[in-house]
Parts: sequence; C-alpha cells; structure tokens
Amino acid sequence: MPSAPDSEFGVPFPGRIAPREQWTSTGLRHPGGTFDWDATFGRSAPRIVDLGCGNGRYLIGSALARPGHDHLGIDLVQVAIDHAARRANRRALPNIRFVTGDAADWIHTRLAPASLDELHIYHPQPYYEDDEASRRLLTPEFLERAWIVVRPRALLVLQSDNRAYWRYLRDAAGKYFEIRTVPGPWPDAPRGRTRREIQARQRGLVVWRMEATRRDVPQDREIRPPDFDANRPGFRRKQGRR
Ligand SMILES: C[S@@+](CC[C@H](N)C(=O)[O-])C[C@H]1O[C@@H](n2cnc3c(N)ncnc32)[C@H](O)[C@@H]1O
Repeated sequence: MPSAPDSEFGVPFPGRIAPREQWTSTGLRHPGGTFDWDATFGRSAPRIVDLGCGNGRYLIGSALARPGHDHLGIDLVQVAIDHAARRANRRALPNIRFVTGDAADWIHTRLAPASLDELHIYHPQPYYEDDEASRRLLTPEFLERAWIVVRPRALLVLQSDNRAYWRYLRDAAGKYFEIRTVPGPWPDAPRGRTRREIQARQRGLVVWRMEATRRDVPQDREIRPPDFDANRPGFRRKQGRR
C-alpha cells in the first residue's frame, strides 16, 4: 500500500510514496559537458528546467502531473538536492533528475542552445548586503543566455517575494521575453508551489510571478546589472538591533 503524503509547513508535498520495488534513482552526477537529455531519459520529450530548485517541490509536482515531460532541477546546495532526489525516488518518478551545481555555469555551458521548453526560477536569493549584490543570479548576461537556451515561444516562469528584485526582473526580462504577470495563487498549488513560496505566504509577504514567452528578437535596449537595494523597509535596521 502506498503510504500517506509527507508535508512541510502543514502543506502536503505532492505525490505519494510508492512501494519500494518501484523506487527510481533521480540524483545525477553530471560528468560535465553539454547535458544530453535524450540519453539521460531514454526518449525525446518536452524539457523543463528549474534553476535553484531547492528541495524540488515544484518540479516533483510537475513531473507527477506531466509524465510526458522530462524535468531537470539544479541547485548549489547538496543537501537540498539530496532531499529532492530522495522524494522523487520514493515517488517512483522516471521523468526527473536532480543535480548539484551552479545555475550560472549550467546556463552558460551545459544547457544547449534552443534545448528547453520551460525554464522556471522561483525565489532567487535577493542577497541583502551591498557587498553581496554581485552574487545575484539574474544578470543581463544570464537573461541573454536564458533567451538562447530556450526554444522559440518557450515559457519562462520567474517568481520572487522581494519587491526590488521583482521590479528589476520585470524590466530586465522584458528585453528577451514577453511578460505576463500572474496575479493570485497558482491554481495547481494555492498555498505555494515551492517551499519558499509557502514560507513567504505564511509570513504574509506578497509573491510576484510572471509567465513570460520568448521573444523572437530581443528588444533593442541596454539593461542594467542587478544593483538594486534588496532590503525590505526596516530589514537592515531590525538586524542591527539584534
Ligand atoms: C530562496 S531559495 C528558493 C528555493 C526554491 N526555488 C523555492 O522557491 O523554494 C534559493 C535557492 O537558490 C539556490 N541557489 C542560489 N544561488 C544558486 C546558484 N548560483 N546556482 C544554483 N542554485 C543556487 C540556493 O541554494 C537555494 O536553494
């Protein structure tokens, strides 16, 4: 008998644990070079990537809902990838892989041009201190490369609960993608698609999201680096008081 679903912050994690004999192996040690989707999954199917996937909540839900699509999740943090792969294995998912790595490295060197159908990035780290701004993932170079690695008319989903990052992305991503901002909770996951979204909603933060479609030709304009002040009003002051 499949067991009951696990949950985080009181929100059930998608799917159920399958009988042990059906478990899969979804953690990947990538040897380097360009990622070979067809060899990895043994088929040619639409391809979905989540960069900074954390514990894989969104991607696992998508892999369960869309068995005809292949999914790849990448995160810098090994322990997050271990949790993601463990959950995907136990859900017997054949159409998902998780790998530890730097999203910037992957987008620039490992994901081939015109190879993705959907690119998702949920709650990229805003980095609050001035001297950390250079660590922000979504730079003009990153967005240009995102435009290159996705197929014509592909979908880009970006989400943030940081107002300054969101404002930056709404402008910068618009150079390469036609942006549609999506108000209200996701119908597929009203309490949150990702771990961070659930936390943000439970703290009463606003969550902004866009579903954007690749432009055939980028807009002819310069975009600035992500040099915004990411602090929520009072954040620095409150930290200083501790
Ligand atoms: C705020 S968390 C959001 C995680 C998940 N997307 C969610 O919404 O729950 C940001 C995630 O990005 C990952 N991350 C930060 N910089 C990264 C990078 N350069 N490459 C890959 N992952 C990165 C972090 O390890 C972390 O898991």
